[in-house]
Amino acid sequence: MEKRKLGSSDLHLSVVGLGTWAIGGPWKRGWGTQDDGDSIRAIQLSIDHGVNWIDTAPVYGFGHSEEVCGKAIQGRRDQVIVATKCGLLRADDGDTINRLSKESVQREIEASLRRLGTDVIDLYQIHWPNPENRIEEAWEAIQQAVEDGKIRYGGVSNFSPEQMDRLGPADIVSLQPPYSMLRRRIEETHVPYCRQHNIGIVAYSPMLSGMLTGRVTHERVAAMESSDWRTKSREWQEPHLSANIALVDDTLRPIAEEHKCEPGQVAVAWTLRRELITSAIVGVRNKDQALANVRAGNLRLSDEELNRIEVSLKARADSLGEPLIR
Ligand SMILES: NC(=O)c1ccc[n+]([C@@H]2O[C@H](COP(=O)([O-])OP(=O)(O)OC[C@H]3O[C@@H](n4cnc5c(N)ncnc54)[C@H](OP(=O)(O)O)[C@@H]3O)[C@@H](O)[C@H]2O)c1
Repeated sequence: MEKRKLGSSDLHLSVVGLGTWAIGGPWKRGWGTQDDGDSIRAIQLSIDHGVNWIDTAPVYGFGHSEEVCGKAIQGRRDQVIVATKCGLLRADDGDTINRLSKESVQREIEASLRRLGTDVIDLYQIHWPNPENRIEEAWEAIQQAVEDGKIRYGGVSNFSPEQMDRLGPADIVSLQPPYSMLRRRIEETHVPYCRQHNIGIVAYSPMLSGMLTGRVTHERVAAMESSDWRTKSREWQEPHLSANIALVDDTLRPIAEEHKCEPGQVAVAWTLRRELITSAIVGVRNKDQALANVRAGNLRLSDEELNRIEVSLKARADSLGEPLIR
């Protein structure tokens, strides 16, 4: 699979990375029931097929995702670039609480190293810029951990260019923002900023958390577990749900059929076009999804196909009365 250099680092990431939010299992912001054996097989199979990096976070199942990742890469740590995050802790009510104090970040680093079963984290990211008045303090703690050899590189997630400016873009190796054909805001702001400062972009939810996979139907959404956070998301409710299913069926599916693949891979390949981003973080829950998703890393869309998608995206946005880029 193609690899791209991550910003100013010496990390070369496969263009498809492994997303592990859903494998954190059920919790207040989880994805419903998940089998750990399925998760481990999905991770190992992805690595076998050329995916060389994993994105996780302590908050995904409050440590569970990191533990599962640690088990899956046991004995093959040298084949995998491991990225995790800090700043979201478990609150007493089972929800999350944002914390970025120096002591908290230091504690989180130690806990992640333990759960992942490693002595160094390749990429360590501030998950959200909250509380905003503590981002510099958290960044200092990360830089100290880099000096101490516990972390190789520091990055940020969900930050604005102004917030990256406050940390000093020279030391930031990567930004992790949401990016898919239905969430394009970074094209106008973050992409030019990151180009200027040589910051890599690792994009999350490239299939809009499963919406663009071709497996979403009205019946499936109606039957989804209430513990699946997506049931509360706007894109999974009307009128967006029907518009999104139509986009997949009328535009992505015919293109996928031409390439003998699935709509989800077309959605991921779209995010990787013209090297706008370094890598797309694709969430997987089982080995079939893992096998399908690695194909996205080798799929190239033609200008004609990209144009067809653009026309459909514009028509969808018009029908919903929304701007194309939001
Ligand atoms: N930094 C942040 O704030 C942040 C936020 C969100 C995500 N992330 C990271 O980005 C990763 C990816 O984002 P994401 O998980 O939201 O979304 P995604 O990659 O757009 O979608 C992943 C979901 O789609 C479904 N799926 C995957 N492959 C499939 C296939 N081949 N066929 C059918 N369905 C398939 C699975 O869910 P079902 O089978 O349940 O449909 C899977 O969990 C996360 O795991 C996480 O590592 C980071």
